[in-house]
Amino acid sequence: MALTEETRAAAREIIARYPAGRERSALLPMLHLVQSAEGCVTSEGVEFCAEELGLTAAEVSAVATFYTMYKRRPVGDWLVSVCTNLSCSLRGGEEVYRRLSERLGVGHDETTPDGKITLEHAECLAACDYAPVMTVNYEFFDGVDPDTAEGIVEALRAGERPTPTRGGPLCTFAEASRQLAGFADPRPQALAATGYGDPSVAGLRVAEQAGWDGSGPYGTTGNGAAGTSAATTTKGA
Ligand code: FES
Repeated sequence: MALTEETRAAAREIIARYPAGRERSALLPMLHLVQSAEGCVTSEGVEFCAEELGLTAAEVSAVATFYTMYKRRPVGDWLVSVCTNLSCSLRGGEEVYRRLSERLGVGHDETTPDGKITLEHAECLAACDYAPVMTVNYEFFDGVDPDTAEGIVEALRAGERPTPTRGGPLCTFAEASRQLAGFADPRPQALAATGYGDPSVAGLRVAEQAGWDGSGPYGTTGNGAAGTSAATTTKGA
């Protein structure tokens, strides 16, 4: 995989989305584009972004090494991220990670010898209501256990694309990176992707049933003890 003239044309399409003089704002999608072309952000990719955006390589590197979604080593077709943060760990996330690590013979941020699967520990994937969760190229598989997680990985190894619990249909890491660069998924089934799931709105439902109106669970707007306490906490934070 390499940076080509097609990559350069796509990069300029991204840059054109931003106002003149603000080209540097295109850096995040540009890094995803580079990743879609190279499988990770290489030194060449850093230089490419710097050249196109009028930045220094140091400035681009500072961004590329700050965000965990930008990888500095080649990623396989399938990036399997297992959440081992608090909520997921309490519900078995560590066991899921251990099973996959044993099964694949790789550790954190390592790729199987056939180049197909990269495994990683992930911090909170913002889906604690479905813990324990794992993602494949950022699509969710909710409420997994070691057996179901292993089944998903085995299906990937067999060339299948298991259906995520919600969200869009699976695509490869290169395809997902291109979408994150702002190029829409052309597959018709992607348009039918689901949004949120039931547990995500459970709290909202409770609030509706209780008649809470957004001013706080005690029905005050800052006049009562709860409101005062919240205001103090916010200021102190
Ligand atoms: S702790 Fe796993 S999704 Fe939040």
